[in-house]
Amino acid sequence: MDLEEAARVFTDPSAYADEKWFHAATALLRRQSPVHRVETDDFVPFWAVTRYEDVMAISRDSELWHNASRTTVNQDPAGVTAPVRTLVQMDAPDHPIYRRISADWFKPSGVRRLSDRIAQLAKRYVDHMAELGGECDFFTDVASHYPLYVILSLLGLPEKDFPRMRKLTQELFGSYDVDMARNQSDTAATETLLDFFQYFQALTDDRRKNPTDDLASVIANATIEGAPIGTLEAVGYYVLIATAGHDTTSSAIAGGLHALLESPDQWQRLAGDPSLAPTAVDEMIRWVSPVKHFMRTATEDTVVHGVPVTAGESVLLSYPSANRDEDAFADPDIFDVGRTPNKHVGFGFGAHYCLGTHLARIEGRALYAELVPRLRSIELAGTPEYTHTLFVGGPKRLPIRYQMA
Ligand code: HEM
Repeated sequence: MDLEEAARVFTDPSAYADEKWFHAATALLRRQSPVHRVETDDFVPFWAVTRYEDVMAISRDSELWHNASRTTVNQDPAGVTAPVRTLVQMDAPDHPIYRRISADWFKPSGVRRLSDRIAQLAKRYVDHMAELGGECDFFTDVASHYPLYVILSLLGLPEKDFPRMRKLTQELFGSYDVDMARNQSDTAATETLLDFFQYFQALTDDRRKNPTDDLASVIANATIEGAPIGTLEAVGYYVLIATAGHDTTSSAIAGGLHALLESPDQWQRLAGDPSLAPTAVDEMIRWVSPVKHFMRTATEDTVVHGVPVTAGESVLLSYPSANRDEDAFADPDIFDVGRTPNKHVGFGFGAHYCLGTHLARIEGRALYAELVPRLRSIELAGTPEYTHTLFVGGPKRLPIRYQMA
């Protein structure tokens, strides 16, 4: 594989579905061209940044590197404005103001309040596995429901709306995948966003009239410098939380199980010592890196790892590559449920560091704490398949066979 072929992994949605190809390609880039110019017919050119240290340095400097003009590879920096503006599209001074609205909700103390509800939901899905009688698709039957239901519960949505939200989020993030996409037209993602918009606009109106103690009420009734939050911004906030908290965690949980099944010694270790659940869940996030990238755009001319980058040019921060960087992790290609330290960048870093880290960790731990002790045996019952994506993904099929106590 030459460097040009290796760099295709960032613009070819099938690359993230082929882990061997992706990791071989990015290992080559880290060694030979860690800041690599990517030019293709279909995407505005960008620089792919694959080393851990460089990803961290760029994430840390949110004055030099902005989010607004281009947050993902699909976006054209020449001014396509996103239909809704969310935290990830904002920079200072707006970003810290909007982030503060929900930051308290996501602090460990805030999230711990939800532990019981999360444990209940974890139990519900493991019970569901038991009902399915020894064979299921762990992604479709368990991992794709549970994190969304956690998020929707904390937003305060009624349970009857959960299936609709699930479908919409999958369409939005899975739109490069034939199994997930609503249809193959260019407008598919826009239509999905419109559906979201209508739903959450109605929710905002309702929580303004009838505030409760849910997160939707916090957002709907937030004030920005004394004035009520704009409807577009409120809706953007819901869309971000409903989407950011769903496929990411589903992918980590399902990809984590796949990793455990491929390393039976690690399964045995976790089963024998449940106190490893916290390090195991972080290792799953490093291993799967469900968010494949975010982008930043240089606000002035600069240099990254010796390579000049001009003001206005964008860099793609490759989290899955950084998380396998041999200069940052001992034996990066070994899945180690006890890995310590594990300073992975799966949640990003800096001003935009994932707001949902505590929630995601609690969800992962709750599910594995329920699942592992109840299983007598577990094995793959077919070949797992991964989502075609350029942004967020993990397994979309994980057939398993098991015996439960
Ligand atoms: C394993 C699961 C998850 C992963 C891997 C993940 C990953 C990420 C990453 C990489 C970012 C961008 C960070 C950066 O630019 O430096 C991010 C941002 C964000 N995440 Fe997560 N996330 C996960 C779960 C969640 C959950 C459960 C929520 C809760 C609702 C959430 C809410 C957010 C929000 C609101 C942001 C935007 C923060 C900002 O721009 O200031 N995430 N996440």
